[in-house]
Amino acid sequence: MSTNQLLKPVTTEYKEHLIIGGCDMVELAQTYGTPLYVLDEKTIRSVCRDYKEAFSSYNNVKMMYASKALCNSAVAKIVDSEGFGFDTVSAGEIYTLYKSGIDMSKVLFNGNNKTPDEIELAIQYGVGRFSIDNFHEVELISKISKKHNRQIDALLRITPGIECHTHKYIQTGQLDSKFGFDLSQIDSIIEHILKVDKTIKIRGLHAHIGSQIFEPKCYYDEVEVLVKEISRIDNKFNIKLDEINIGGGLGVKYTDSDNPPAISEIADVILDSLHKNIEKYGIELPALYLEPGRSIISTAGVTLYTVGSSKQVPDMTKYTAVDGGMADNPRPSMYEAEYYAEVANKINETPKEKVTIAGKFCESGDILIKDIELPALEAGDILCVYNTGAYNYSMASNYNRAAKPAMVLVNNSQSDIIIYRETLEDLVSHDNIPDRLVR
Ligand code: LLP
Repeated sequence: MSTNQLLKPVTTEYKEHLIIGGCDMVELAQTYGTPLYVLDEKTIRSVCRDYKEAFSSYNNVKMMYASKALCNSAVAKIVDSEGFGFDTVSAGEIYTLYKSGIDMSKVLFNGNNKTPDEIELAIQYGVGRFSIDNFHEVELISKISKKHNRQIDALLRITPGIECHTHKYIQTGQLDSKFGFDLSQIDSIIEHILKVDKTIKIRGLHAHIGSQIFEPKCYYDEVEVLVKEISRIDNKFNIKLDEINIGGGLGVKYTDSDNPPAISEIADVILDSLHKNIEKYGIELPALYLEPGRSIISTAGVTLYTVGSSKQVPDMTKYTAVDGGMADNPRPSMYEAEYYAEVANKINETPKEKVTIAGKFCESGDILIKDIELPALEAGDILCVYNTGAYNYSMASNYNRAAKPAMVLVNNSQSDIIIYRETLEDLVSHDNIPDRLVR
């Protein structure tokens, strides 16, 4: 079974309490407080190895972890040590990698509205690839790269016109999308770059068709669109593009009803399409870039909460609230995302009641899990919500002036803080009271 098909981290054990990475989740909650993000190092490494093994028959693969899923210095170090590069979309992500000592030539910069400051930073730090998204960006890159006397290696981001069955907010490859060039605009941008913007060297094409994808066929079609386009561009402009970037998107198992394909299954489909279409359209084998985010980091992460108040609506729902919610995990309220949980201190008890896990934030929609069967919950219990490694911390907010939780890395029975908990002082540290308001 591949790691993205698991509901829980690879090191999960049931002893007196729930154990992950050899650490007791109840003790961890006591030591570091809750809510607490916990990240299992072995699970991250296990997924990275699944990817490397699945694509090992193709000797020109570049794995670029999509750092938007979770970006911090410790994760950067782990993923880097597995031989991955990085897909970034902001100055913040680029800076984090730079400060973590990552080789910046292994970093790719994506995004539909890179600001002049971000482009400047990326060029100064020597980011290896830009994925150019639009005409405005070409002008900016051209101007800034000339100033620094740098040649920019670029991919052109296209919208391949492929719709995948996933939540519409996380679909990106369909034609009506804010990302990338429509296929009808590609020729004019290439003409422009070849004539005017000689500091930009087009190396290949890039696309991304969406996230939490379960259908391998989408990737087959995507690869075909990219290969066909490269061949057409070669014929028309006589330029050899030798890189294709197919983005990320592979799904994970949030609940028992999710059945994502194995990484090896996706790899077989992608490589099959690549080999067949290369022959069909007569191009040479390109470098293949992948940008997995969620599938690398989601399963490794869990969130621990302390159970607080409960409310039984007569003859209806029983709500039990925890000490976190939409500020640390906005996905249920944004995407109706579903999660699975267990009670870390009652791990051997059989589920007795159906309960809805509510967050503590001032929104009726702040519900983490609807109708889950759990052992009878009492205040003080430690609830462990699984599969929160991706797009939880990275999308967390300070709503209701909540301090963001800490993140702890577990491995071989050792736990280490990798992100400190925000303090109340942190929350006011960026406030400023104008003089005229001070009496
Ligand atoms: N490459 C590009 C160009 C992307 O836009 C994305 C994600 C990825 C790679 C990584 O995709 P992944 O392997 O993680 O599916 N906040 C949403 C997900 C947004 C994904 C945005 N783009 C969520 O929580 O479900």
